[in-house]
Amino acid sequence: MPEGLKLLFSRDQIEEAVRRLGAEISSDYRGRCPLLIGVLKGAFMFLADLLRHLSIPVEVDFVRLSSYGCRTETSGVVRMTKELESDIRGRDVIVVEDIVDTGLSLKFLLEELRAQGPSSLRVCALVDKRARREVEVRVDYVGFEIEEGFIVGYGIDYAERYRELPEIYVLEEGT
Ligand code: IMP
Ligand code: MG
Repeated sequence: MPEGLKLLFSRDQIEEAVRRLGAEISSDYRGRCPLLIGVLKGAFMFLADLLRHLSIPVEVDFVRLSSYGCRTETSGVVRMTKELESDIRGRDVIVVEDIVDTGLSLKFLLEELRAQGPSSLRVCALVDKRARREVEVRVDYVGFEIEEGFIVGYGIDYAERYRELPEIYVLEEGT
């Protein structure tokens, strides 16, 4: 196990959660072709696996959000550093996020997207830290709910490290 990390979710647990989310989304959107918007960079691995568990056609696009700095806390100032390339007016849109923590990033993104007139807008997050929410945002599909702790792996980083790990770990204090 990588030093300073404690295993939280194994490959099997992740696979099971992603499979469940894929089945729920496929059932809810049967007969439609939603646009999945992955939030870079953290959601790239989750989105890639989620797609393989869908039984409906979808389209994929990406945005990139960043809050300043590479600390373990969101600064609250969110920017979009890569814009959407698709026209989402009248589309069914599903935002695919790695983690919803304070909710500030997602709230900002949902406001931007809503202004572009999608016919529906939902959110799928691998990890929901609901207890830490500072602003109200609705997450429709949740892989795991956790109370606290800074996590890495499976696309999720700390200062750009650990994205390649196939499992999800908690970063231990002092690392
Ligand atoms: P929020 O704006 O506070 O909801 O945080 C949103 C983003 O901060 C998430 O999409 C992640 O990219 C990042 N983030 C929040 N918690 C963690 C964590 O435990 N590990 C790594 N990144 C995190
Ligand atoms: Mg993110």
